[in-house]
Amino acid sequence: MNQKKHTVRTIQQMRDNGETITMLTAYDYPTAKQINDAGIDMILVGDSCAMVVHGHPNTLTATMDMMVLHCAAVARGCNRTMVVADMPFGSFQYGIEETMRNAARFVTEAKVDAVKFEATPRHIEKTRAIVEMGIAVVGHVGLHPQAVGALGGLTVQGKSVETARKVVREALALQEAGVFAIIFEAVPAKLSAYVTRKLRVPTISIGGGPGCSGQLLVTPDVLGMFDAFTPGFAKRYQDFNGLMKETFARYAEEVRTGVFPGEEHSYKMSDEVLEAIEKEFGAASA
Ligand code: KIV
Repeated sequence: MNQKKHTVRTIQQMRDNGETITMLTAYDYPTAKQINDAGIDMILVGDSCAMVVHGHPNTLTATMDMMVLHCAAVARGCNRTMVVADMPFGSFQYGIEETMRNAARFVTEAKVDAVKFEATPRHIEKTRAIVEMGIAVVGHVGLHPQAVGALGGLTVQGKSVETARKVVREALALQEAGVFAIIFEAVPAKLSAYVTRKLRVPTISIGGGPGCSGQLLVTPDVLGMFDAFTPGFAKRYQDFNGLMKETFARYAEEVRTGVFPGEEHSYKMSDEVLEAIEKEFGAASA
């Protein structure tokens, strides 16, 4: 396992050597640290935090301040895993300068290694501008959850010739603009495998099938911590919700029955101190 911090070069090397890149989302320090220590190659601090952490119905309510705060916490937990910040809705849709300033906040304030945004063909110039600033950029094709309103739902993209063409064109344009990797979200497996073979840069699948250079999942889906919306491509490895509920109920039971706190969870004081206090303030009534 590579013990040094991943960079755009090591991620490209993995793709060139045919090693599969692993990626998960994270939004806080303790989770990021476990992901880092487990040897996962990349973390996306996704704007999915608006849903899975803040309880909103979609990702549109994520803000720059919210994302910078989550990114900074995640970055502090990673000495090996590459951290990618997701630029939220409204942070890259206006002018080039504003987009550049927002991208810069992620590297200067949150100290992440790269940024990602849901760039459409209208954002190619902005992608190029951020790359020219010296910031590593990840592209994102297929389903853009920030376009949920226009799309009418979070659905698979690229099943028809017309929509598949859009995915291919966008991926090629992003590579040309200088991104170092591209996320394929909710794209038919055959299409992502085809584009992966056409591209020089690594592709990371989240619902893009096994033919990509790497795989990404939303961590609360993996842990079984988020029930409000589970995409078809997500795989649940644990039942953390069940574990948490059971743990909290046990704690409540122990508090109610006086089992907790026991001697071992209480601080000690000498009898002389209590005697002195009682002398000064009087005995406490029962
Ligand atoms: O916010 C997020 O987690 C994402 C992934 C679904 C790609 O953008």
